[in-house]
Amino acid sequence: MPRTVIAGNWKMNGLRASLQEIRAIAEGVTQGKEGVEAMLCVPATLLAAAAEAAKGTGLLIGGETCHGRESGAHTGDISAAMLADAGATHVIVGHSERRADHGETNSMVAGQARAALTAGLTPIICVGETQSQRETGLAVETVTRMIQRSLPDGIDPAGIIIAYEPVWAIGTGNVATTKQVDEMHTLLRGQLRERFGDAADAIPILYGGSVNAGNIAGLLAVPDVNGGLIGGASLKAADFLAIYAQA
Ligand code: PGA
Repeated sequence: MPRTVIAGNWKMNGLRASLQEIRAIAEGVTQGKEGVEAMLCVPATLLAAAAEAAKGTGLLIGGETCHGRESGAHTGDISAAMLADAGATHVIVGHSERRADHGETNSMVAGQARAALTAGLTPIICVGETQSQRETGLAVETVTRMIQRSLPDGIDPAGIIIAYEPVWAIGTGNVATTKQVDEMHTLLRGQLRERFGDAADAIPILYGGSVNAGNIAGLLAVPDVNGGLIGGASLKAADFLAIYAQA
């Protein structure tokens, strides 16, 4: 069984004043739970302070993206080593908002995942179909292609996390049904097995898209759902901890 991962994704939200929420979350998860990881992926500007706040608690801190190259002339970008240096242990790569806002392709995402692994970070590699892809019957084909091409070759499967995030479910309140989630997570587990054999069974596959305290239990009951990637409901400590409590 993979470990369960409850990961927040703060996106482009949070100023230094929000560190009080991070401190409250860190305090709330300090007891820890067997087999459960709590994590917050925060804007780069908050990383060092968040890592400081999480020090000695059960809370892990991650970045939200990284560049595929180690260093160099890429103004405004952040390398995986910089995230690690600021105290991150994880990084989201290939989030649909990055793919849409910055034209990130599957091969770029694979490069970012490789860069993360090289820097000692665990990449959370995101895949998921758009509304129109689902409506036109292309969801399975799309997600299959995304998982095949967004994973770098020759990697240790113990070092990665996958997130299935249907784009139409993100920030809409329109959570995928357990049947839809079951179908896609089974598909992803199958793809990971083809690639990594039995070692695939230990890779956490998270669901993301309008997760909240009211729906997390039902989602976690789906066999191949090993946690959640949570946007809106991770911004307030009370909301995040209400989700974590059910993991
Ligand atoms: P949401 O975002 O929980 O606000 O839908 C999830 C995500 O984009 O990771």
